[in-house]
Amino acid sequence: SDNTVYRASTTAPVNIAVIKYWGKRDAALNLPTNSSLSVTLSQKSLKTHTTASCSASYTGADSLLLNDEPEDIQSNKRTQACLQLLKRFRHDIEVKNPSAPKLSTMPLKLVSINNFPTAAGLASSAAGFAALVRAIANLYELPHTPTQLSLVARQGSGSACRSLMGGYVAWRAGTARDGSDSIAEEIAPVSHWPNLKALILVVSADKKGVASTAGMQTTVETSTLFKTRAESIVPQRMEEMEAAIHAKDFAKFAEITMRDSNSFHATCLDSWPPIHYLNDVSRAAMNAVETCNRKAGKLIAAYTFDAGPNAVIYYEEENEKLVAGVFRYVLQQVKGWEGEYGAQIPSNEQG
Ligand code: PMV
Repeated sequence: SDNTVYRASTTAPVNIAVIKYWGKRDAALNLPTNSSLSVTLSQKSLKTHTTASCSASYTGADSLLLNDEPEDIQSNKRTQACLQLLKRFRHDIEVKNPSAPKLSTMPLKLVSINNFPTAAGLASSAAGFAALVRAIANLYELPHTPTQLSLVARQGSGSACRSLMGGYVAWRAGTARDGSDSIAEEIAPVSHWPNLKALILVVSADKKGVASTAGMQTTVETSTLFKTRAESIVPQRMEEMEAAIHAKDFAKFAEITMRDSNSFHATCLDSWPPIHYLNDVSRAAMNAVETCNRKAGKLIAAYTFDAGPNAVIYYEEENEKLVAGVFRYVLQQVKGWEGEYGAQIPSNEQG
């Protein structure tokens, strides 16, 4: 038999939402209750590297090694959904072109490495599923665009659909029941606003809190604030945020970013049982941002928090000294930060 090993490698970046995805209208298909918008971070500091290979000589089931540890992907519905879709796309190519090797029938070996601690709660699933989908799409030589592949990555982890593109990315919630219009698209490339940067503050004593899927479910079912957020607040913010990004209006970008993070965490606190992702260290970071903005007399820094206590601070490069100075001063008095004042991650450098 043929022992050829087919192989492809790729990397995918982390993205941090400035308008948050929180709530599923369809849990099986990972369809969101609202659209969301994110900034893709530089691959210099945070990325997943994935190699996908397949061969008729491989035996057994598809497998995934994540940071040298075998993952149970057979019982993982999300991973299975991604693999099945990609194999179907490959199968379609093989049907049209009978001389194409039958990769869709061969076992897959996937090897993924994060260049950041998976346990740090840094949106690792977004980079992870984006890299997995892109690597297999390359291996299978699929003609699909990043937006078309976002449909696949979305089924692995919602936020992963936004990591297939660089720059500023919108995930349109869509209305179709089959999710065919729930896709991500780049609204502006990195080069549009190259001096926008992100400072990531990793809380060292990080405990695994409520997982996003379970947390979303609780919020959708119990929060009294949630309906207004999903139905009227976020749609209006999406429009305002896109306009702010197109105009490179940092003050507007910062206001919407902070208000949307606070709105998301308010619906978490308003859930029953309540969900607490922020802690005293997170609140110290919010205070530091407020200090920066007070000192500057305008909005020059913005905080945002995902489903955990780590802070991401957006600012423009020309204000780096002021922002870093305030954070160094404030956070050295607060226990719980990695290093002196966290890891500094520019969002605008290509990996
Ligand atoms: O992609 P998930 O299911 O891990 O959900 C991510 C949710 C947030 O990170 C809190 C918000 C977002 O839009 O990324």
